[in-house]
Amino acid sequence: MTKLKNDAWLGALMTLMGSNWICLLGSSLSGVSAFLIIAFMLLGILHLTDSPYLGIMAFLILPIIFVMGLLIVPIGAWWEHRKELKTGKSKETLSPFPVVDFNLPRTRRIGALIVIFTAFNLFVISTTTYEGVVYMDSVPFCGQVCHTVMEPEYSAYRRSPHARVACVDCHIGPGASWFVRSKLSGLGQVLAVTLNTYPCPIPSPVKNLRPSRAICENCHWPEQFEGNRLVDRVTYGEDEKNTPTHSVLQLHIGGGKTDNGIHGWHITSGIQIRYTAIDRERQKISHVSVTKPDGSVTEYSAAKDAFTPEELSKGQERVMDCIDCHNRPTHISYMPGPAVDAALAANAIDPTIPYIKKEAVEVLTAAKGAPEDLDTIAKTLNKYYEENYADLYKNNKEIIDAAITRIQDIYRENVFPKMKVTWGTYFSNIGHDDRPGCYRCHGTLLSKEGNAITQDCDVCHDVLAWDEQQPKILEELKGK
Ligand code: HEC
Ligand code: HEC
Ligand code: HEC
Ligand code: HEC
Ligand code: HEC
Repeated sequence: MTKLKNDAWLGALMTLMGSNWICLLGSSLSGVSAFLIIAFMLLGILHLTDSPYLGIMAFLILPIIFVMGLLIVPIGAWWEHRKELKTGKSKETLSPFPVVDFNLPRTRRIGALIVIFTAFNLFVISTTTYEGVVYMDSVPFCGQVCHTVMEPEYSAYRRSPHARVACVDCHIGPGASWFVRSKLSGLGQVLAVTLNTYPCPIPSPVKNLRPSRAICENCHWPEQFEGNRLVDRVTYGEDEKNTPTHSVLQLHIGGGKTDNGIHGWHITSGIQIRYTAIDRERQKISHVSVTKPDGSVTEYSAAKDAFTPEELSKGQERVMDCIDCHNRPTHISYMPGPAVDAALAANAIDPTIPYIKKEAVEVLTAAKGAPEDLDTIAKTLNKYYEENYADLYKNNKEIIDAAITRIQDIYRENVFPKMKVTWGTYFSNIGHDDRPGCYRCHGTLLSKEGNAITQDCDVCHDVLAWDEQQPKILEELKGK
């Protein structure tokens, strides 16, 4: 008796899924992909793998196959029905649409199966749609799927203070309209990667980045900042001993409430600075206007002969915001000098190795993205120490090896030949060291009366020590 019942259900299932090969194809596609989606989701939930491609399969590719399978089934049924109509094979199907008669047990069984399958299909579709959207906003999707393309940004990001902030929190931010916009431009980007038409290096600044105050200020509120920040910049010399010197600055970071400081002068509510840059990288600034809370406007312009009329005509105006100073808050890249300094300060390169600062910077500066760079770095440094410091090389080879490994890592973290990214491709606008940074405006632009935007050192920071070996201020702070 039960056997008979089972057969009846099986028959209903067969009718539903496989009345011809098209239906069979559709239902198998859906079945297999649903099985894989669930299996991949389980793998993810159980943390058995963290491959970024798992998400692409489970939430983007397989769901498409799943839905395609579902769509194929009715096409197959329609085709079958038409065939039966033509051949006059079945009485039941002589009418243009199949006759549905719930008085027949078979029809009821098929109906029940349809309800169960539809519930299951809706479950799979809604889960994968939701998970797909979440997944497309995830760091693995943005940073790792197009591995080569995003490598420079992802690699710097992982080592930055924002390593726990999702890419989308800065690149998209909250709100439905930016969500839709980002998905549209994301589609373009996926196409560009597939068709290999994306630019190398990826241009910066990002032209359509959302105004940064709507993003950064979800977490930071500089108007509430106050006071100073003490920074100690250590630079190692190019002498045999790699002698370190310190520049100690008291940066007037400030905010908007009680003291203006750096932030208060540019971004407090009530103050608006607009500037016109004539180049894509926003390095050449031709005009600035400041509107103060009292409504007064001060204009500053570049010297008359600084730019040609043709250059000036290319100018684009922009309201100054966080990104105009903090253009690399998370994708931080270094020049060889500061990178080697940081490694020496952290003892990742042993500072007792003679001339290591000079040699490391030289070998890194020469390595601009050729395929053999990493080998050359190792060979050059090994050769140098073998020839010039044979004893050290023989007895303490491990500290040289460790230094070489770190120097190669510095190269890997900053030079990405496949993306044509090399030393200085991306640079920071904070400061005035190897790039004009603050000096794009300060000291270069003049008001009608001939006053420059200030370049007075103490306005931005007190220079408490400048390239000194043993600054008094650091001794005092240590309480010696
Ligand atoms: C703390 C905020 C922040 C986070 C988090 C962040 N970015 Fe960025 N990103 C920026 C800023 C700011 C720029 C430069 C914008 C400018 O100058 O216009 C940028 C630029 C870029 C660029 C353009 C090329 C370049 O290097 O300037 C790419 C590509 C990029 N980011 C990808 C990513 C990816 C992928 C992630 C996640 C792994 C990510 N970003 C996370 C803030 C962020
Ligand atoms: C989702 C929150 C979040 C967003 C959005 C965000 N930040 Fe941050 N940011 C942080 C946190 C948290 C830290 C502190 C990290 C630490 O102290 O290690 C930080 C640190 C910083 C620092 C100090 C870094 C240092 O060297 O000490 C700067 C500068 C900064 N953020 C700028 C920005 C800018 C500019 C943006 C917008 C492009 C931005 N942040 C967007 C959370 C965020
Ligand atoms: C005129 C340039 C400028 C602008 C505009 C600017 N900043 Fe800064 N900001 C600085 C400088 C300079 C520092 C100190 C840099 C350092 O840490 O060496 C700083 C430091 C910070 C810090 C770290 C504070 C600390 O105490 O260590 C945060 C966070 C920050 N800025 C966020 C922002 C945000 C968010 C915005 C936009 C609302 C913004 N900044 C706009 C120049 C600027
Ligand atoms: C786009 C142009 C521009 C850039 C870039 C810029 N500033 Fe300014 N800054 C101004 C203008 C304009 C003023 C206000 C001048 C005035 O009051 O008329 C100003 C004022 C200041 C003041 C107050 C000066 C005073 O008289 O007390 C400080 C401090 C300052 N900026 C620091 C910085 C720092 C630090 C940087 C780089 C991280 C920087 N600025 C980058 C345009 C700029
Ligand atoms: C418009 C603001 C501004 C002015 C004016 C300014 N600086 Fe700076 N300076 C900065 C900022 C911002 C930094 C970066 C701090 C950091 O690295 O965190 C910096 C960094 C430095 C450093 C240490 C790092 C380096 O680049 O070597 C020294 C030294 C220095 N400044 C000296 C001076 C002297 C001397 C003057 C006067 C001639 C001056 N600065 C004028 C904003 C300014």
